[in-house]
Amino acid sequence: MKKRVGILISGRGSNMRALVEATRQPDYPAEIALVLSSRVEAEGLEFARQAGISTAVVDQALAKKDGLSRDAYDDRLHQALTHARVDFVCLAGFMRILSDAFVTKWQGRMINIHPSLLPAFRGLHPQKQALDAGVPVSGCTVHFVVPELDAGPIVAQAEVPVLSGDTVDSLSARILEAEHRTYPDALRKALAQVP
Ligand code: GRF
Repeated sequence: MKKRVGILISGRGSNMRALVEATRQPDYPAEIALVLSSRVEAEGLEFARQAGISTAVVDQALAKKDGLSRDAYDDRLHQALTHARVDFVCLAGFMRILSDAFVTKWQGRMINIHPSLLPAFRGLHPQKQALDAGVPVSGCTVHFVVPELDAGPIVAQAEVPVLSGDTVDSLSARILEAEHRTYPDALRKALAQVP
């Protein structure tokens, strides 16, 4: 039976798109049960809707206006995921730090993609961090999510060269291409580890 995957996004959603495309292969072990966004205006929502995938938004701007706590916000995420009978979560450019309580509920059933070769360059702007550090190689990492940010067991990594003359944009674009190749394979691999 295919696993029901929920994808959390906040913006462009190009990794979400790569995952959706992978699930179109008949032998892929997952289907996308929900694309859940923290922002109403996330560009990725339109692609998901047109692909006939259920979408939901837990609007963080509204949550902020209403003074909702992080835990209360994350409870809403959890409710949306359970309502859609999601078995496994993929973070794909979800630009919020998740509460420990939420992470604990999904631990072992939630992965993230990060545009560096972790443990190098955790946190924000990893591509700029890589350029500033002058490393010859960077890349992307898919890892299980644990309460500590950008930590957690690594599922897959892909290396990308850093070229002389690279800017944050050119390096980010090269890493993003690798992300799109890596995330679907990593999800398949992670699902094989879930009971
Ligand atoms: C990607 O670089 C991903 O690694 C990072 O956020 C970016 C999301 O891009 N976590 P997209 O929304 O998937 O296009």
